[in-house]
Amino acid sequence: MLSPDTENHATPNSGGTDARARITAIRAEVMPLSPTFHAAFMEWFSRIAQDSLTEQDSQRILNAVADELQRLEDERAEGRMNDFAVANGHISIRALLTGMAQQSDVTRQTKVEIQRILADRLSINLLDVPGYRITHDWFHFHEDHWRKHFGYFSGRPNLRFLEIGSFEGRSACWMLSELLTAPGCQLICVDTFDLHPGQESNFDHNIHAVSSNATVLKLRGRSQQVLHHIEEQSIDFIYVDGSHSALDIIADAAAAWRLARTGAVLVFDDYANDVLPDSFAMPCKVATDAFLAMIEGRYELIFKDWQVAISKRI
Ligand SMILES: C[S@@+](CC[C@H](N)C(=O)[O-])C[C@H]1O[C@@H](n2cnc3c(N)ncnc32)[C@H](O)[C@@H]1O
Repeated sequence: MLSPDTENHATPNSGGTDARARITAIRAEVMPLSPTFHAAFMEWFSRIAQDSLTEQDSQRILNAVADELQRLEDERAEGRMNDFAVANGHISIRALLTGMAQQSDVTRQTKVEIQRILADRLSINLLDVPGYRITHDWFHFHEDHWRKHFGYFSGRPNLRFLEIGSFEGRSACWMLSELLTAPGCQLICVDTFDLHPGQESNFDHNIHAVSSNATVLKLRGRSQQVLHHIEEQSIDFIYVDGSHSALDIIADAAAAWRLARTGAVLVFDDYANDVLPDSFAMPCKVATDAFLAMIEGRYELIFKDWQVAISKRI
């Protein structure tokens, strides 16, 4: 059984000021939309799900989108928002416009206008991260926290890690360079690699660029289809960061639990992210809590804030 070195392992952090401060700091970067725009955004998304947006609605939304895009640019120019946060704002607005372009009542002319905004104002660009090709960074704010809680893995040989949802390899590269440092280690990366056309080539570039002793096994496909190819109870650390729809999280968590060795760490992302439009009324927290209730008594809590980390006891 792999267990943390007592002197290096931080005490559980399931609440309190530190956890709240961390949630607030991450929330500001992950959800940079203004409160007014955000409230309307959630309403529009629920209407999109019902295919009930009208042409009139879409004109109102396009005006609001233009103002919000300008606000994000102003905040960046004035140094109140970083590039990562602006990129996150763009992802949300891109998802909104993409949904609008599929509404039955929206006219062809408006759909052309939407495509123009997507191409001109919302194209996917590389962030300025030397050596890497990444377009979005959802991981940098976890680095210190992960180093504090999981740094004890560094230097241990023959570890097997699994990441469900690797995107362009940002978190994978961090695990490779910081935790999987000893000989014989392996990282398995599972992803559909279909969020944008350059995603998989960026992932390959980044994995190639990182200096690590570990090998990387890339499994392309939906986690629900590929995870059963992995040997049960063979993994020491699992990062569950794939689909954020609540039912998929439950499925990934259940599969991850089977794959985890006794003593393994499981981390679930976006526990405190209650505003994902694609998981309407069933945010990640609901799914993660439901899973934790199912394994009550069989795990130790490591921390619970923006993310939840546990270790498997039995
Ligand atoms: C938030 S991103 C992962 C970010 C990455 N862990 C990081 O920190 O750099 C979520 C990823 O999950 C992938 N994904 C979504 N649904 C999936 C599924 N059912 N199976 C596998 N991957 C999935 C997406 O393609 C996307 O790359």
